[in-house]
Amino acid sequence: MRIAMITVMTACVVLTCGCAPQSTATPVQIIKTQCTKCHNTDRIKAAKFDVDGWTAIIWRMRGQGAQLTDAEAKAVIGFLAGGGGSQL
Ligand code: HEC
Repeated sequence: MRIAMITVMTACVVLTCGCAPQSTATPVQIIKTQCTKCHNTDRIKAAKFDVDGWTAIIWRMRGQGAQLTDAEAKAVIGFLAGGGGSQL
């Protein structure tokens, strides 16, 4: 019984804390810090793409040298594809 409890508790700890630390920055913060290194937000505001379009853009920006983790890229893509660019 005791072993089972410990196994369950260990599994919970591994499941909740075992992955890489999540970024706590919001998409707006990520864009304002990472995406303004080479250009301002005007072209981001002006651009209207869907998820596929933004995914292609973000990959291209990473190729240019933008430093985003996969989680940050995902957050930014979802935000921009949802029309969040107008809030920048
Ligand atoms: C290392 C420099 C660099 C960083 C960082 C960067 N960009 Fe860019 N971006 C560029 C360059 C250079 C261009 C123009 C050439 C091109 O379109 O690939 C560009 C163009 C763009 C365009 C216009 C593309 C089009 O086809 O109209 C958008 C939108 C854009 N960037 C969004 C972003 C976003 C969002 C981020 C943050 C994730 C970002 N950029 C970070 C260098 C960068």
